[in-house]
Amino acid sequence: MTDSNKSSHGEWSSRMAFILAATGSAVGLGNIWKFPYITGENGGGAFVIVYLMCVLLIGIPIMIAETMIGRRGKRNPIGTMALLAKESDADPNWHYLGWLGVVAGFLILSYYSVIAGWGLSYILNVFTGSFSGAGGEKVQTIFNDFMASPLQQLFWHTVFMVVTMSVVARGVTEGLERAVQWLMPALFFLLLLLVAYAMSTNSYFKGLNFLFNTDFSKITGQSVLTAMGHAFFTLSLGMGAIMVYGAYLPKDISIARTTVIVAGADTLVALLAGMAIFPIVFENNLQPGSGPGLIFQTLPIAFGNMTGGWFFGILFFVLLVFAALSSSISLIEPAVAWLVETRNMTRQRACVWAG
Ligand code: PFF
Repeated sequence: MTDSNKSSHGEWSSRMAFILAATGSAVGLGNIWKFPYITGENGGGAFVIVYLMCVLLIGIPIMIAETMIGRRGKRNPIGTMALLAKESDADPNWHYLGWLGVVAGFLILSYYSVIAGWGLSYILNVFTGSFSGAGGEKVQTIFNDFMASPLQQLFWHTVFMVVTMSVVARGVTEGLERAVQWLMPALFFLLLLLVAYAMSTNSYFKGLNFLFNTDFSKITGQSVLTAMGHAFFTLSLGMGAIMVYGAYLPKDISIARTTVIVAGADTLVALLAGMAIFPIVFENNLQPGSGPGLIFQTLPIAFGNMTGGWFFGILFFVLLVFAALSSSISLIEPAVAWLVETRNMTRQRACVWAG
């Protein structure tokens, strides 16, 4: 470390760059794949309110704390925790908390990238018309055949990981920052197009009603836990991702204000995803609470049968992959930063190892 006021990996070039990167980490499969189906399973509107409370009361304060710790330490999460423990004469075992984050992020990426790979393969499926005119049974067969083919899944997973590694290998400003600078606006634009399409269907208000109609009798202890767990997952908390992004944050930027913007943008994207998906589901007489299969088993039926389904289907899966990419680069970054700082590796080499 040459200058203790700066991370050895460089810094975000502006406040906007940090906002885009942190929003990129937060907005991911959790918003587009998970939020709509857990909302469906937990009764819609009331669940959304509980989730918003969790973001506000737990998510935002923890995100602020994690970013602050990262900026203070200016290194990978393990190094940051070790340094801060030393500086404050605390137990050195605190550095294991950094380890927990890095390992958890690593484990999440190991399945996250598989689902992102499904997204890539579905872009091709929609593009080649595999779903056109398909009923539930055909879509199910396509999904089952894909699940039964390790080679195909391995292929798409590898493509996704290679893209992730090549972004991260370029470094903080040239890689991460550049990627999110075009990924995030593109993602937002695609999402708005999908919502506009959903608005043109007859089931738009039915979808909104499902998402916002509040029936608290549907809320159980389990759904509160689900909402809280999702608030952590969607804001990328406790995995070292936000901590390492905080390490690249220049000194003069207000953490509280930027965190509120990031959490707001993340929540907005989740709600917009719900507003795009549920009207399409209802318009095609499909089930909103169909679990994780909502995206890969239910929506393709809609895309195969609705007007403009080919175009909007491709848009949807491209959106899903963009969202996954901007998150997976933040999932691998803590491990890459650790390898660079402690194993004297170049960034490229660290990416290959971590990837
Ligand atoms: N926040 C991402 C999502 O909602 O899909 C997932 C995620 C990214 C979790 C980065 C944890 C993390 F460190």
